[in-house]
Amino acid sequence: MATDAVILVGGFGTRLRPLTLSAPKPMLPTAGVPFLTHLVLRLREAGITHVVLGTSYRAEVFEDYFGDGSRFGVDLRCVVEKEALGTGGGIRNVASALRADTVLVFNGDNMIGVDLVDFVESHRKTDADVTLCLTRVEDARAYGCVPTDADGRVEAFLEKDPNPVTDQINAGLYAFKRRLIDTIPAGRPVSVEKETFPGLLRSGADVRGYLTTGYWRDFGTPADFVQGSADLVRGVAPSPAVPRPGERLLMPGASVSPKAKIYGGSTIGARTAVGAGADIDGSAVFEDARIAAGAVIRRSIVGNRVTVHPGALLEDCVIGDDAVIGAGIELRYGARVWPGVHLAEGSIRFSSDL
Ligand code: GTP
Repeated sequence: MATDAVILVGGFGTRLRPLTLSAPKPMLPTAGVPFLTHLVLRLREAGITHVVLGTSYRAEVFEDYFGDGSRFGVDLRCVVEKEALGTGGGIRNVASALRADTVLVFNGDNMIGVDLVDFVESHRKTDADVTLCLTRVEDARAYGCVPTDADGRVEAFLEKDPNPVTDQINAGLYAFKRRLIDTIPAGRPVSVEKETFPGLLRSGADVRGYLTTGYWRDFGTPADFVQGSADLVRGVAPSPAVPRPGERLLMPGASVSPKAKIYGGSTIGARTAVGAGADIDGSAVFEDARIAAGAVIRRSIVGNRVTVHPGALLEDCVIGDDAVIGAGIELRYGARVWPGVHLAEGSIRFSSDL
């Protein structure tokens, strides 16, 4: 029986601004390729080759890169929402592009190591209307929780709570019976988490949970993005797009001084130059950047064409495209530098949005 894959990629990615001003979140470079490539190649590996992207914000970026999918071994189509319809509205909007009875729906910013074939088989075996992939987290207070009964039936969708009743959360991957998708209202914004799933439970639909213990991360915040990118480079997160995991990934044309230290799953983008004595740990540096001698970059995302002058320190930062970080500047604690901003030498030793 065939399976379709729908990937929701229409969000604005506000938490990753300013990087998402120039590229939508699922297209940000991650371990050398746009993030979504990892998922598309995992689908192909699982034999799921009909892929529909639910796009909205910067839809053309997806079309230009993926085309009809043939370069990636899949049959891919983009369905555009003129105005963002939310996660449920996005699923409903692609209904006419679906062909199969089983539809896998992915959040386009989650990395999930679950065995996709087993997930689909479990959904079919139980004959559920919808199966939700669930994952356990150490601290569930920041997430909506999804308790299940002894048979794996979902009991409720609970909002964030300081005392969560379970550590099981929604992993952003669902298997739908095709006909259920037609029951989502068309032409208006709908949240699948807040409206569709609670509504299905109220109506007595058979909604099941499938608990995965494999890799899972939502790449939506800067801290998760850098950690997830490093996990891909090191092979902690499985991806066919990273055939030789290691401590660092240097993209074609990157020039790195033999006296620079690059580690912790860092990526150095194409044509980026790194000077002697630079120390780059657990960071993602995009293309055509210049990292001067003695600069220190930890757990940060450095955009395209950024210049970092000698001795600057960046810790837990997001640096927008074309920004210039002057010599000796120290930025920490989640500082974000907007695209094109020039910070003069030695001018700043604190953190905030700049
Ligand atoms: P933030 O603004 O930082 O919260 O990011 P986001 O806009 O991506 O929202 P969120 O992380 O909650 O979205 C989860 C997934 O659903 C992402 O892959 C989004 O691209 C996708 N998504 C969110 N809203 C929409 C929408 O209106 N339409 C479509 N097609 N996808 C959406």
